[in-house]
Amino acid sequence: MKGILLAGGAGSRLYPLTLVASKQLQPVYDKPMVYYPLTTLIEGGIREICLISTPQDLPRYRQLLGDGSRLGLSLEYREQVRPEGIAQAFRIGESFIGNDAVTLILGDNIFYGGDVFHQAFSQFGEGAMIFGYRVHDPERYGVVEFDNAGRALSIVEKPKEPRSNHAVPGLYLYDNTIVEIARNLRPSPRGELEITDVNCEYLRRGLLRVQKLSRGFAWLDAGTSSSLHEASAFVQTIEKRQGIKVGCPEEAAFRRGFLSLETLGELAGSMPRCEYRDYLTAVAEEARRSS
Ligand code: TTP
Repeated sequence: MKGILLAGGAGSRLYPLTLVASKQLQPVYDKPMVYYPLTTLIEGGIREICLISTPQDLPRYRQLLGDGSRLGLSLEYREQVRPEGIAQAFRIGESFIGNDAVTLILGDNIFYGGDVFHQAFSQFGEGAMIFGYRVHDPERYGVVEFDNAGRALSIVEKPKEPRSNHAVPGLYLYDNTIVEIARNLRPSPRGELEITDVNCEYLRRGLLRVQKLSRGFAWLDAGTSSSLHEASAFVQTIEKRQGIKVGCPEEAAFRRGFLSLETLGELAGSMPRCEYRDYLTAVAEEARRSS
C-alpha cells in the first residue's frame, strides 16, 4: 500500500493566514498540521508516500520533510497546478501509484485513537474502503447512508438534506483500479474531480466497503479558523494530560520500526534545544531502558 498526502487547495477559509503559508503548514498546537496526517500514514505502516501541493508551497514541504529518509520513508513530491478537486490526486500521482493499491489522506485531517487504519491497510484486498464518522453537521461533507445491515446505500456530497449523520473522513483506500476510475472522471458542476464520484463508482461496482469509526475515535478537520483552534486545543489537552505527543512522525516511525533506536537518538540530538527534542530524547531513553 502506497500513500498520497494531499496538501494543496486554496485554503480560502483560512485567509489571511494562507496568504503567506499553505493551510497544511499552519500550526496545530505544537507542530505543523501536515505532521498529523503524515503520522497517520506512518502509524499505518505506509512508507512510500507522495505529497501533492501547489507549485508555490511545494518548496516549503521539501524543506520540512526532505526525501523522507530522515524518517525511514521514501517521499516524493508532485505539483497540483490548480485546485481542481481531490480526485485529481490520482491523475497527478498515477506514475507514483504504479501497480499498487493506494491510500489518500487529506492534509488537513487529524485522526486520533486506536489501530483502525493499520488494520485496514494490512487487511486491504480489492475494491475500496472508506469510513463513516458521526458528526453533528454532516451537510459540510460527503454523507453516507446505510441500510439496516450496515451496508452503504448511497454517498452524497454536501447534501442539503443529509440522509444520515455519517460523514466520510478524508482517508480513503483504493485498489489499483483507481487509476482507471480517475482517468474517466468528469468534473462536477462546481468544476472539480470529486472524491465522492470515485466512491460512488466503487459503490456502483459493488466494491465499496464503509467502516464506521467508533465513538471513542477522534476525527477533526482543521480547515476553518475555529476548527483549527479546536484541533489545537484537543491536541494540547491530550498531550498535557498524558505526556505523549499526538502527530509526532519521528516517534511513529520509530515505533513502526522504520527508524532504529540509535537513529532516533541521533535525530533528537540534531534538533535545537526545545520541548520537541526533549520529548524525542525521553522516548529514546525509555525505549533503551526497556530493551
Ligand atoms: P477543502 O478544505 O475542501 O478546500 P481548500 O483546502 O481549498 O480550502 P477552502 O475551501 O477554505 O478554500 O480541501 C480539503 C483538503 O483537500 C485540503 O487539505 C486541501 C486538499 N485539496 C487539494 O489539495 N486540492 C484540491 O484541488 C482540493 C479541492 C482540495
